[in-house]
Amino acid sequence: MMSHHFLLIIHLICAAVWIGGHLYLSVSLLPKALKRKEPQHLLQFAHGYEPLGMPALLLLVVTGIWMSLQFGIGWQQWFSFSSPVERVVSLKLTLLFATLLLALNAQFRVVPALKNNAARLPEMAFHIIAVTLIGITMLVLGSFIRYGGL
Ligand code: HEM
Repeated sequence: MMSHHFLLIIHLICAAVWIGGHLYLSVSLLPKALKRKEPQHLLQFAHGYEPLGMPALLLLVVTGIWMSLQFGIGWQQWFSFSSPVERVVSLKLTLLFATLLLALNAQFRVVPALKNNAARLPEMAFHIIAVTLIGITMLVLGSFIRYGGL
């Protein structure tokens, strides 16, 4: 069995990368872009961050599901909201789904439009801030597991 502690360490590094990148976008690049009505730096960072951020999110999912299995929670129990650790896992999966929808919408609709129309910046801002807040919520939810779940 893959060491739970090892999976947790990978999970934590990826959480740091995912949340760190999105906080930098939200707190530093986004306010500047909105003030100057200039999305170029924002898009540049987002583009450069992708090869790091996407594997981080993928590894969060893989290690997260793997650790849940080690806690005895398989897909059969998902979304039953019937035990404390399973409730945390199901909430995290729901938020993961929301993150994927937001990411796909940003990637395929908002970013292409933003490239030639700065008026789409508030829409981009909504996506960035939502993904950041959801990421922080996922971290807080994860922290409950060592105390027995929700
Ligand atoms: C943006 C995505 C995610 C972030 C930022 C995140 C963050 C975290 C953090 C910081 C912890 C450590 C808490 C602690 O040590 O007390 C944690 C634990 C955990 N996460 Fe995630 N997580 C994410 C996605 C997921 C997903 C998709 C799953 C599974 C479906 C998952 C399952 C777990 C489990 C089972 C633990 C408990 C590990 C343990 O305490 O032994 N996570 N998560």
